[in-house]
Amino acid sequence: MELPFAESWKIKMIEPIHRSTREQREQWLKEAHYNVFQLRADQVYIDLLTDSGTGAMSDRQWSELMLGDESYAGATSFYKFQAMVRKIFGFEYVIPTHQGRAAENVLFSYLVKEGNVIPGNAHFDTTKGHIESRHAFAVDVTIDEAKNTQLELPFKGNVSLEKLEKVLVENKGNVPFMVLTVTNNTVGGQPVSMQNIKDTCRLCHKYNVPVVVDSARFAENAYFIKTREAGYADKTIKEIVREMYAEADAVTMSCKKDAIVNMGGFIATNNKQWYDGAMQFCIPFEGYITYGGLNGRDLNAIAQGLDENTEFDMLNTRIHQVAHLAAKLDEYGIPYQRPAGGHAIFVDGDKVLDRVPKEEFPAQRLTCELYLEAGIRACEIGYILADRDPVTHQNRFGGLDLVRLCIPRRVYTDNHMDVVAAAMKNVYDRREEVNHGVAIEWEAPLMRHFTVRLKML
Ligand code: F0G
Repeated sequence: MELPFAESWKIKMIEPIHRSTREQREQWLKEAHYNVFQLRADQVYIDLLTDSGTGAMSDRQWSELMLGDESYAGATSFYKFQAMVRKIFGFEYVIPTHQGRAAENVLFSYLVKEGNVIPGNAHFDTTKGHIESRHAFAVDVTIDEAKNTQLELPFKGNVSLEKLEKVLVENKGNVPFMVLTVTNNTVGGQPVSMQNIKDTCRLCHKYNVPVVVDSARFAENAYFIKTREAGYADKTIKEIVREMYAEADAVTMSCKKDAIVNMGGFIATNNKQWYDGAMQFCIPFEGYITYGGLNGRDLNAIAQGLDENTEFDMLNTRIHQVAHLAAKLDEYGIPYQRPAGGHAIFVDGDKVLDRVPKEEFPAQRLTCELYLEAGIRACEIGYILADRDPVTHQNRFGGLDLVRLCIPRRVYTDNHMDVVAAAMKNVYDRREEVNHGVAIEWEAPLMRHFTVRLKML
């Protein structure tokens, strides 16, 4: 008999979690204004809000913490971190930052000017926020197929070269860079193919536009290239990663994802001018350039995390768990962005609660229903997160309305995934009773989803 699949690690430490009653959850969610960001973590049973900073570090990473050098300048921890980033990505200049959005803030402070246009394959919300807050414009150039959740494509996160070229032509001289996000979080943790990465870089370079790779989940992207793209099956993840970045100009990284640490980020580039420019913003925002808002021990843990999470077995275990949840949802007929992504399953809120009008935010309602059902905290990646148009101030209903079941790395077992799938099935089975969604009572001018106050309709 063939041996079944199992994790490539065993568990050394555990953290208790607790179930609650439906009455408790109804009260807590009301107090949270129907925004799950406002819940206390101890009111949650299984927390699938994000995979960011929520992973379990390995024993090697924990031991690296003890070796941290906390010197203000020139700590050995910085050099260990810098050497690993150089080795993995092939970029010479490395600036640590306290997280991914801080890397965006530092680099964009130098690069983005009012009125600029910055194309990207579905910019993450903080990336878009850092562009729009500088009165510049983020233009989405993801392939149209990404919007059809039921279409099975191996690289659904790809850039549409046609759309990209149009933006580059129409805005000549006004595009400081392009943002390529791997994997493409916003459209469902969908990967970008090696071919598309290369074609995107070449097209941008033809118009003298540099490419900044938003790399939060770069290792998961490399895993999909290895397992789905012709010619890569025999290459190591590390070889694939080097090839992914060979023609790119810079990296902004949230280490909270694929470096499996609780906090951290960086910028890396071979462009000395960019390095010198960004450095000046690192010092006032993040701190001196050899720590950038991080402890020496954090830099050590990042270096170790980058090394171990660019090994095939680690990624295979991870992606296998996401696929396990997807298989359960398939069994129950629940529609999600197909195929299963790298870090999450994105359930199609619009399709599940098809009686709820768009204006009442179906995916947010589904997020609330899932919490009420079983204390599972998911996250709306839909019409609320899409925010309002910065010019017209109208809600944007043109994209997808998804509920993200985002799986922290090395934290939950497949049994937890089975609970999540069963809870989602229970909500799905009574979907015809849900005719209304939620209404906004108060919202912030930018990145409203974190703090929005809602009422149930
Ligand atoms: N880029 C991408 C693609 C991201 O997914 C995130 C964060 C960031 C940049 C910003 O990084 O959080 O370290 O400042 N995504 C998290 C999420 C928050 O839940 O998807 P950060």
